[in-house]
This record gives sequence, C-alpha cells and structure tokens, in this order.
Amino acid sequence: MSQDLLQKITALAKRRGIIFPNSEIYGGIGGFYDYGPVGVEMKNNLKRYWWKNMVDKRENVVGIDGTIITHPKVWEASGHVQGFSDEVVECKKCHQRFRPEDIQEKCPKCGSTEFTDSRKYNMLFKTEVGVVEGEKMDAYLRGEACQTIYLDFMNVVDSTRQQIPFGIAQIGKAFRNEVTPGKLTFRSREFEQWDLQFFVHPDDMEKWFEYWKEERMKFYKELYRKQENLRFYEHPQDKLVFYAKKAFDVEYLSPWGWAENEGIHWRSDYDLTQHSKFSGKELKYTDPKTGEKYIPWIVETSGGVDRTLLMLLFDAYEEEDLGDGNIRTVLKIHPEIAAYKAAVFPLVGNKEDISKKAREVFDLLSDKHKVVWDDRGNIGKRYRYQDEIGTPYCITIDYETLENNSVTVRDRDTMEQKRVNIEDLDSILS
Ligand code: GAP
Repeated sequence: MSQDLLQKITALAKRRGIIFPNSEIYGGIGGFYDYGPVGVEMKNNLKRYWWKNMVDKRENVVGIDGTIITHPKVWEASGHVQGFSDEVVECKKCHQRFRPEDIQEKCPKCGSTEFTDSRKYNMLFKTEVGVVEGEKMDAYLRGEACQTIYLDFMNVVDSTRQQIPFGIAQIGKAFRNEVTPGKLTFRSREFEQWDLQFFVHPDDMEKWFEYWKEERMKFYKELYRKQENLRFYEHPQDKLVFYAKKAFDVEYLSPWGWAENEGIHWRSDYDLTQHSKFSGKELKYTDPKTGEKYIPWIVETSGGVDRTLLMLLFDAYEEEDLGDGNIRTVLKIHPEIAAYKAAVFPLVGNKEDISKKAREVFDLLSDKHKVVWDDRGNIGKRYRYQDEIGTPYCITIDYETLENNSVTVRDRDTMEQKRVNIEDLDSILS
C-alpha cells in the first residue's frame, strides 16, 4: 500500500464530507477532527454494528453510558495521574517534538541528528468542576473510557440479572494530550473507544481471554475486505504491565505499516482492587450459588472507533481503470457501514412526472432504509459521487418507470444495472 493513500483518503474525506479538520477557519487545532454529513452516518453505523455484535446478540453482555468527567480520585487509583505519560524527544535544530519510536536516527522534519534526552509528559487533560473561586475542584477528562465501567460494576451487579461471567460494554469519548497527533484520526486528542470489560472467576481467566481474542478477530474479519491485512501482534513478556499474563493487539496494515486497531488485555483484579483501595468500598462479587466472595478478574477488549473507521476507508478505497484514461474512485465499504444504502435519482430532474414518481420511491424506502436523494447534474456524475462515498446501490426512475413501475438498480461494486419492480426494492436493500 502506498504512502499517498493517506493523502488520498484525507482529501476524499474532506471533499465528500466524511472527516473535516476541526476549527479549520482558525487554522485548525492539532489532533481534533469533526465528522461531516457522510462521516457521521458511517461512524454511527459502525458503532451500531459493534453494539449489535457485542451487546444485542449476547445474553451475557450489558451496556452503559458513563460520563467524561469523573471524581478525580479515579485517575489516581487507575495510575494515570502518576504514570500516563508519553516519551518525547526534541530536535535541537528545528525544535520539533517526536515520540522516540517515530525517529530513525534523523529528524523527520529537518534531517538533523541531534536530539534532547527523552522526557515524559502526562497526557491527561485537566479541567475544573464548580463555579466559585476557591471551591473549584481539579478534574480530568477521561484518558480511557473503561474506568467508568469499573465505577459502575457494583451498580450493574445490583440492578441487573447478570451473574459472573458477564460483560459490560460502552462506547464513549476518551481524551489524550498526545505529543504527536497525526495521520488524520489515527492518533488524535479526542477520540472514541469501544470497550468490553468481561468479568470472570480467576480460574476461568485463561479460557475467556482466548475466547474474546478469537471473537474480536472474527469481528474485524467480517468488517474488512482485505483479510491478509489483519493480524495479531503479541506483546513481548518483558513489556507487559505487572498484572498481565499476556496482551494482543489486532493490527491492520495501514499505508505506514502494521498499526494497532484494538487491544485485548489481561487486567486480572487490578482495576477493581485499586478502586476498592482508593474509595474504601468493597468491590467483591458474591457468587449466588456457592456464596464465594471474590474480586472478579477482567478480560478487556478496547478498540478505537475513529481508528477503525479510518482503516475501513483504507481497506475500501479503489481506483479502477475504466479505459480511455477514465479512472473510477470507489469506496467498497461494508454495506452496513456505508452512509446511505441507496441513492434515488430521477433520470431528468426537471420532468415533473418523473420527479414525482422518484419522490414516491424515496418516501417508500426512507421509512426503513437510509437513502439519499440526488437530482443534480447528469447520471454519470451522480454515480461518481455515490461511488466515492460508497453507496451500495443507485436507483434511477425513468420514462419506463411511468409505464411499468420498474426502475434500474446499479450495483456499486460490479456497476451492473438491473431492472426491478419498485415493490422489490425494500427486500433488495434489506
Ligand atoms: N482501556 C485500555 C486502553 O485505553 P489503549 O490501547 O490505550 O487501551 C485502546 O487504547 C484503543 O483506543 C487503541 O487500540 C486505539 O484503537 C484507540 N486509541 C488509543 N489512543 C488513541 C488516539 N490517540 N487516537 C485515536 N485512537 C486511539
């Protein structure tokens, strides 16, 4: 995969309303991005897809939606206040800062080989809670979404019918003051994570770790087209945190090499023990059958929503040579993630009867499916636009429709066109 794929995706994302740099009129702000009209649909679809797979289809997983700001002690207990830091070196010539792993002997900016010693920066964003001076409390934007799951663990046990083994899922924002944000949304300062914390008896830890490792790879294999671009990276034993027995990343082959999509982590009883110590509250689970009391162990699967969407754009992007120097750019993205399932076109926008019929088709479909209307320019241009945002089907209403209620349906990937009856459109899209 060529390096310029990142540039192509960045340009396409801006041109077609997928991802915009935040505060662009003020010159932008590093590491912050907005989703445009097409991107927000894709991102919502992606989150729904994860939720369906991880929560709706499982009887032993429930969801929560926690806050971004929590009691500041949470981040002392979690270790983030003391140790959530990034290593930074500074080029002595151009003063640009980098993570040590991003420089290969020479400064990527100016080519100099002289750097300062590496220093540590805490990545937590600070804020204040309260309005009266002197009574304000320092707080943090959450550096990882999962902490609220630990905080709500006992509430979930007490309020649901779940028994261990069971999981709590959450999709939510996390904030990290990254030293070197970059590569579009890959490393940003405000991003979303999808997390599962699965609570188990310590004796069952190994079994459930392996189970979730396989489940998560299966999830990504169903989502991505290019299976050869997916792999596990196993963290070396000497790099593991002291409470972990193993850790794996699901990686995707990005234009700059293998890149982390999600981590599968062995968290043992570390988090609940820490919160128990710092809060003074017992966070033990009592087995309703045996009466055994213990702090559950946790298998975590934690991935990036924005990162996955970015990787999906890399995975889907194709430039196809149609002959005569004609290149078609198409996003062959998973149909469930595509912003729109179909586009509805009146062949000629200014013919009242065709337009009216096309509106009927749009209204019929939009009750159940996300469809988009386009009557601008010629059909060729409309196809090009929909291909670039990955719309699986284009439906054209023409003169023949007025005679026999049939429309043409054009397939994004094969470009084949078929005539079908309007009544069959719902089942085709389903
Ligand atoms: N609770 C565990 C945890 O937060 P992590 O490996 O630091 O683990 C999990 O983060 C996932 O969050 C990563 O695999 C990545 O997809 C995403 N992520 C982390 N930092 C990110 C950033 N700065 N920008 C975008 N996504 C990020």
